[in-house]
Amino acid sequence: MEPWNTFVEGDNLEVLRRLAQEGERFDLVYIDPPYNTGNDFAYVDDIRGADGRRRGRHDAWVAMMRPRLEAARAVMSERAAIYVSIDDNEAAYLRLLLDDVFGEESFLAQVVVNLNPKGRQLGGGFATSHEYLLVYALDPRTCALDASSADLVDERDFPLVDAAGRRYRHLPLRNTNKKFNPVTAPTLHFPVYGDPESGRVATAPFDGSHEVTPVFGDGRPAVWRWSRPLIDERPDDLVCRRIAGRQGERVDVFQRDWLHGVDGGGRRKKLRTIWLAEEVGSTDTAVAELKALVGHVFESPKPTGLIRRILATMPDDARVLDFFAGSGTTGHAVALANVADGGRRSCLSVNSAEPTRPGSNAANAGLLTVADITRARLRAVAAAVGGGLDERS
Ligand SMILES: C[S@@+](CC[C@H](N)C(=O)[O-])C[C@H]1O[C@@H](n2cnc3c(N)ncnc32)[C@H](O)[C@@H]1O
Repeated sequence: MEPWNTFVEGDNLEVLRRLAQEGERFDLVYIDPPYNTGNDFAYVDDIRGADGRRRGRHDAWVAMMRPRLEAARAVMSERAAIYVSIDDNEAAYLRLLLDDVFGEESFLAQVVVNLNPKGRQLGGGFATSHEYLLVYALDPRTCALDASSADLVDERDFPLVDAAGRRYRHLPLRNTNKKFNPVTAPTLHFPVYGDPESGRVATAPFDGSHEVTPVFGDGRPAVWRWSRPLIDERPDDLVCRRIAGRQGERVDVFQRDWLHGVDGGGRRKKLRTIWLAEEVGSTDTAVAELKALVGHVFESPKPTGLIRRILATMPDDARVLDFFAGSGTTGHAVALANVADGGRRSCLSVNSAEPTRPGSNAANAGLLTVADITRARLRAVAAAVGGGLDERS
């Protein structure tokens, strides 16, 4: 069986070009490039644009990223998506660069990720507590990304239980959106018949039934969410009840909305574009995760929860690529996700042999390059979580 994780040491531009030549394709690219906080590209700080403003720093960063994103594009499959982590230093430049490389129509989202819930306390100004994920498809028409997650569904939102033990909730059959009314949706305004004693609902009158027409809370005419044929097809998923309305007691019709769908399949909830630390983890929890496996050897890892949420938007056999792998969080998350759901994802991680700082925890632990850190973590993941590791150079 193919190992879940593969690590390649090297400059990612060379590695990406080689992968393209070898015909390799990936379904999901996640990268967390250097954020350009001012130190990495400081040597060109004084280059000024025609308007006299300093731009060298951004130009140098974009010049570094452009060929790498183009090379990444060349190894993406037709169902692929790319997620890029970035903070305020380069977010605006990266967005335009991604528009350029992938096309504006391929933009899917700019997600705000609350990775530092306490907020940055160093320096002046605001206590920045978020960064971004820019999300693009290779081709939005064929992209497999499903912007929803099963993890967000809360069982407590489905408080009722039927005789077979299936959880559900009651939703009004009436469309509560004021945009829909007998003028805008005339075919959905018709009487249905229900018996609040037995709960039975039908489109034709029967013994003991009340006629129910859809109305808003204020008594104005509304429409149903289901057509007549759908009501006839699924009467058991509807129930008639007596309720206390604003204008006194009335009889109304509700849908039984099942936690696990009508076919017993998994229910998913659309992902919002703000991801909270309590949902995906924070930089602090990421440091703790790395510490538990290898030690406190990397300053700004990402939490595996963040990558797992990204993985959950793609098929469970996705081929994943992270070519700014750092401490190897993406490979770790892939192994955890495979164990959790039996998926067959694989992950290729790439990092250069950038030296670690002499005297740092990493260097003191004998990890002399960042590639040594990536390897150390992915080996520990293979031992603790499973899935093996293929090491290449
Ligand atoms: C912000 S870190 C990634 C952190 C990672 N997401 C994690 O959770 O640990 C960026 C990484 O990119 C690596 N890097 C920078 N330029 C590179 C290049 N040209 N080729 C390969 N790796 C590179 C750096 O060594 C650094 O580890």
